[in-house]
Amino acid sequence: MESDLIFALVMRWTHIVSAVLTVGGTVFISFVLLPAVSANLPESERGPFRDAVMKRWKPLFHPFIVLFLVSGFYNFLFVTAPLHQGQSLYHALFGVKFLLAIVFFGLAIVASSTMAWSEKLRARRGIWALLVATGLLIVLIAGFMKVMPTVDPEDADTATQVESGDGIS
Ligand code: HEM
Repeated sequence: MESDLIFALVMRWTHIVSAVLTVGGTVFISFVLLPAVSANLPESERGPFRDAVMKRWKPLFHPFIVLFLVSGFYNFLFVTAPLHQGQSLYHALFGVKFLLAIVFFGLAIVASSTMAWSEKLRARRGIWALLVATGLLIVLIAGFMKVMPTVDPEDADTATQVESGDGIS
């Protein structure tokens, strides 16, 4: 296998593993851990326990933001964009997915924060559910992008040149 194919595969694995672990971890915290804490711990112990959990979750989660961005941009710029040249729907979906990912990262940073600045924001009911919904929506958009028909980059180049007048003698 050529080295650029191996690199593309490693980037794809990185992106998929990041998605599985961060969205999966978010679902677990939202629907299993936090409800169990509320149901079983006295109010005075909930805050310190939550902070102890988040102090372990943050060093796991934060590096995934970097991995998502690196693998996502690599995947888009070098793998998928050339296969979807001229497909405005594909590029619009990429834009929406990217913006939702920024929202996901921001919400995740606030929801898992243990700092004083975020106290009011993370106390809002529904922040974890919103995080889960955003993560799942991103995965659904990615799935749709994956099954969109591709174009042969050489055909797309020719079409672009003809449209712009290049290559017409
Ligand atoms: C919460 C953040 C994100 C999640 C959960 C997520 C999830 C996914 C998943 C599950 C796939 C399908 C992987 C495959 O089948 O190969 C995918 C593909 C992709 N992602 Fe992400 N992603 C996230 C953030 C990003 C970011 C920040 C970027 C860009 C900078 C990005 C760009 C892409 C691209 C270009 C694809 C390929 C789509 C295609 O197959 O045509 N993603 N993403």
